[in-house]
Amino acid sequence: MMLADALKAFFCNMSQWLASPMMRAVQNLETSRVPVWMMRQAGRYMSEYNAVREKYTFLELCKTPELAAEIMLTAVNKLGVDAAIIFSDILLLLEPLGLKLTFLPEGGPKILNPIQTAEDAAALPMLESAEQLDCVMQTVRLTRQGLDEIVPLIGFCGAPFTLAAYAVEGGTSRDFAKVKTFMRTCPLEWIALMKKLALSAATYLNGQILSGVQIVQIFDSWAGCLSVDDYYRFVQPYSKLLIENITPGTPVIHFAPGNPMLLPNVRDAGGNCIGVDWRIPLDKAREILGFDKAVQGNLDPSILLANRNVIRLFVKKILLQNAGKPGFVFNLGHGIMKETPVENAVAFVEAVHEFG
Ligand code: CP3
Repeated sequence: MMLADALKAFFCNMSQWLASPMMRAVQNLETSRVPVWMMRQAGRYMSEYNAVREKYTFLELCKTPELAAEIMLTAVNKLGVDAAIIFSDILLLLEPLGLKLTFLPEGGPKILNPIQTAEDAAALPMLESAEQLDCVMQTVRLTRQGLDEIVPLIGFCGAPFTLAAYAVEGGTSRDFAKVKTFMRTCPLEWIALMKKLALSAATYLNGQILSGVQIVQIFDSWAGCLSVDDYYRFVQPYSKLLIENITPGTPVIHFAPGNPMLLPNVRDAGGNCIGVDWRIPLDKAREILGFDKAVQGNLDPSILLANRNVIRLFVKKILLQNAGKPGFVFNLGHGIMKETPVENAVAFVEAVHEFG
């Protein structure tokens, strides 16, 4: 293709994304209808995913761009959602930083050499280039190529606190005692660690943007274990640092579930669109956040275990709470559960398209 043709195709595609309900909603602009997608929309509740997963480990899937792209494209086509997210995991970023990542056969991640001392934290390197995660960049390119032009592709990373929580705890934790003790007893090393993670995550996201994502989402999955004061002091400045270092012009979704008391601080850390879980009613969350912010959420994923009628009822309720305001992306308040019947996930998307 001639350069002129390539440029024309690029700008033509770009105008499609810019006009899409998802792209407009995350920027708090009016939309013709409410866009919808689901966190973990490609995963173990889907038979197509399980069929591929029988032959490969989860990490192998993440590191094989052809398979990762195929998995997400299959889910997007099956569900009819308004956005795609790359198939990957927030923990992949820890590998080029020297942390040894595995996923246990019974489920759940494990770091074999967690950060245990101030010296371990000081020795952690930064991500120098997004090319250190070349497989993810390739997944972005292949997924973008396979998607309908109107469907924006979301890139993502873990927020500094959630990455630090995994690095220090060595896996999923109940009480986060190790990471909380670390931040309180080694405050200077904590600051240095959080800065390194924030800037590494920014480098990673900027690589994803260059490779073709239109939106980025930051997952601070474990921030909800913190008090408001602890979040403000130990976490907020570094989430802010990450967001400030993202290539300008790319909308940012900032999601920190688990503790709605944190919402004002999560908003202050940054992002065009703030993720909201089901623990707070949507109207209340929007009032707290202010209507200059878009919101994404907030259906309890367990509602998808019920039936079509229940799902439709809850979709209507949340739409009523939003009261037609611009800047609403319908989603779950957390990842979809693996027990979810696929037809219920489809019914959810259809209900949003019908009523929203
Ligand atoms: O949304 C999507 O479909 C994109 C893919 C995606 C995955 N993980 C795939 C995945 C995304 C966006 C993530 C983010 C992620 N990973 C988060 C933040 C979101 C959240 O849930 O709060 C976290 C905390 C992780 C870390 C992680 N990865 C955990 C705790 C687990 C195990 C839990 C579980 O559900 O088994 C994973 C594994 C994982 N990530 C799977 C998938 C599809 C299941 C892997 C398998 O097939 O066994």
